[in-house]
Amino acid sequence: MTARYAEGRNGNYPGKGIGQEVGVAILGKGTVGSEVLRLISEFSENLENRIGGPIAVRGVAVSDVSKHQGSPGLENLQLTDDARSLIDRDDVEVVVELIGGIDYPRELVLQALNAGKSVVTANKALVAAHADELSRAANEAGVDLYYEAAVAAAIPVVGMLRRSLAGDQIQRISGIVNGTTNFILDAMATTGMSYEDALAEATRLGYAEADPTADVEGHDAASKAAILASMGFHTRVTYDDVYCEGITKITADDIAAARQSNETIKLLAICERLVDDTGATTGVNARVHPALVPNDHPLASVDKSYNAIFVEAEAAGRLMFYGNGAGGAPTASAVLGDLVGAARNKIHGGRAPADNPYADYPVVEFGEVLTRYHINMTVNDRVGVLSDLAREFAEAGVSLSAVRQEESGDGAHLIVVTHEAAEKDLRRIVENLSEHRDVQAVDSVIRLDA
Ligand code: NDP
Ligand code: HSE
Repeated sequence: MTARYAEGRNGNYPGKGIGQEVGVAILGKGTVGSEVLRLISEFSENLENRIGGPIAVRGVAVSDVSKHQGSPGLENLQLTDDARSLIDRDDVEVVVELIGGIDYPRELVLQALNAGKSVVTANKALVAAHADELSRAANEAGVDLYYEAAVAAAIPVVGMLRRSLAGDQIQRISGIVNGTTNFILDAMATTGMSYEDALAEATRLGYAEADPTADVEGHDAASKAAILASMGFHTRVTYDDVYCEGITKITADDIAAARQSNETIKLLAICERLVDDTGATTGVNARVHPALVPNDHPLASVDKSYNAIFVEAEAAGRLMFYGNGAGGAPTASAVLGDLVGAARNKIHGGRAPADNPYADYPVVEFGEVLTRYHINMTVNDRVGVLSDLAREFAEAGVSLSAVRQEESGDGAHLIVVTHEAAEKDLRRIVENLSEHRDVQAVDSVIRLDA
């Protein structure tokens, strides 16, 4: 492999010296921003000792100042709806972006980085869409860009990939990375709560995005998968590279059927390094979709808004990370960890390790990746239907691992579980089945991929 070194400005990054204040601007005072401000105030002494100097919050930017006027903790701070002028203050050295969205925060983060200020953000949508541009700006300015809270809130998975596993070769990263959808699927399965009520409760608890479509359609998890794949495989993977299917098509019937077969439906994010017969890497793939997980698999018991991530690495073996994946305080914990890192570097000098997409593996289309399908269909109840339908699979070279037939009203209920096959072949089979004269309906198709 030709050497491709991490980008970065040459030279030292001197610090301002022990005991000096580090000026911080907080952009956003919603679910996460409010908790960040609370923790900075409550832990101020400990933070000062860990950083080597006090954190001085210079100001807070919000969209509607009148909503926050007089709220505790904002005394003696600049409260503004003009984030740009807050960033521009000479005494602001670290900018914490907790607004959300893509275009406006991109402008703010670039403004901060270009002005030589380090940035901490919890914004996965922004990082997954613009990591290249943001990293380049941070490297050129010689400042830090931290985003631990962007993936799985309190679980320190980004730092673990960036630092602890930096010497290993990662093969696969998979798991539950969206708290809202896990909360919804868990509530539907365990309490029989409706999808709508469960989503409303997840929103009330502060787990959901400002537009919860991002959660339920899988976009939030896809952004996180892009970040995980980029970090883990040292290859730039963006949101657009990630196959994405959310939970909106999962019905109460699907959940009941999964329970009957001792399985649980989870929204999984899966990032894989693909290898050929010689073990050489041929590319990487990242995807998000609901999957059936056997009840004795550790992911099946991840309940409420918890997240869990498995990392498989050549030398480390299999690692599992579990914890709070959403909510104000858990996310603020990760933001504060980053803030301590960025502030320490302002005091003592140096930079955090930047991301390094040197490997530049091709991103392989999901259609080429091996997966397994669990297909549920209603078919005509006639002699020979089973062998006719089995032929559809055989002709496509896909072997079956289980077939179950149940009597039901007008026809028969047929459940088919495949062995591993290329996603594109499985899709084609489902298309053919939908048009087959003996198939009344393909009721559901869920992958098995834990
Ligand atoms: P909220 O919607 O609760 O808060 C957003 C904040 O941004 C509000 O204070 C809002 O102001 C402010 N804001 C909006 N527009 C502007 C603007 N133009 N200028 C200045 N301020 C503005 O979001 P969250 O706190 O939930 O999320 C923040 C970020 O953290 C997002 O990127 C999200 O994806 C990420 N995140 C969230 C997690 C969670 O569990 N909630 C977990 C992990 C990451 P105002 O108060 O006046 O409306
Ligand atoms: N909306 C996100 C979730 C917040 O539910 O996981 C944490 O990133």
